[in-house]
Amino acid sequence: QALYIGVDLGGTAIKVGLCNAEGELLRTHEGPTQADGGSETVLNNIAAYVKELVPPGTPEWEQVQGVGIGIAGFLDIPNGIINFSANLPFRDVPVKQIMEDKIGKPVKINNDANVAALGEAWGGAGKGVSDCVCYTLGTGVGGGIIVGGRLIEGFSGMAGELGHMSVVPDLEAIQCNCGQSGCLETVSSATGIIRMAKDAVARGDRTSLAAVEKIMAKEVFDAAKAGDEVAARIVTRAAFYLGKSMAAVAVVVNPQRFILGGGVSKAGEFLFEQIREVFCKLSPQRAHEGVDIVAAELGNNAGVVGAAGLFLRA
Ligand code: BGC
Ligand code: NA
Ligand code: ZN
Repeated sequence: QALYIGVDLGGTAIKVGLCNAEGELLRTHEGPTQADGGSETVLNNIAAYVKELVPPGTPEWEQVQGVGIGIAGFLDIPNGIINFSANLPFRDVPVKQIMEDKIGKPVKINNDANVAALGEAWGGAGKGVSDCVCYTLGTGVGGGIIVGGRLIEGFSGMAGELGHMSVVPDLEAIQCNCGQSGCLETVSSATGIIRMAKDAVARGDRTSLAAVEKIMAKEVFDAAKAGDEVAARIVTRAAFYLGKSMAAVAVVVNPQRFILGGGVSKAGEFLFEQIREVFCKLSPQRAHEGVDIVAAELGNNAGVVGAAGLFLRA
């Protein structure tokens, strides 16, 4: 039977997974991205992990029809080129061609959050919903927009770059890795939350976070849940701008469901309630009715399933 490999290329880890023709995930494997090594190192790592997942020369390898890769960044999707990535060392790299040479199988690339959205739409929190918008909250903030059951890519692949919506007012805006300032990613990604926490500690704000050796987004949420006011304000800020961006997205594509994935979404209802409140407050009359904001269901596997699906269902 036909098999497909999906690759989720993230800032810290690369996850690869093997799917059957029904899109079911058979097994996964992962290793470090080593982004510091540059694009050549990262692409060699992808090839290595793919070949560890399914060793060339085995009957299974012969069954593999293609390799789909989800990548964080602005992509020329039809031509398989990464034009720019805010959080990975890629500038104008023809990934599709390079990876086809390294792996010897057909390769398709798409944005990491786009493929996560596809994965959720096919077999996760977006199943049966024709219009949904996915946010991935991790190192960066990613987005995937599905309208009428179709992924919206835009004329140059920029559709769904929700992390780079300019939402923070000028006076409070800080620089984003994309070259703009005030992007959603600067306040609602794990990186943004950690930065705000470190700033608060550096300012001498009274917070339990001052005693934490290595602040991660989870520490900030835990402190906020335990009643730390400084941490709570950071969470409220992250939630506010997510809700604000959703109110904007809602009047553009009118999705029935917003799906939140990525590490930050693990904060759960504590975060979701605040986002819903802002979303409703900033949406026009009736516009928020019937729209739900839910957690992703496939967890860390949405990316690999969606990437493999680029061959199966596109
Ligand atoms: C990138 C997106 C990506 C997101 C999540 C953003 O910085 O611009 O392409 O989807 O991070 O990885
Ligand atoms: Na996207
Ligand atoms: Zn940006």
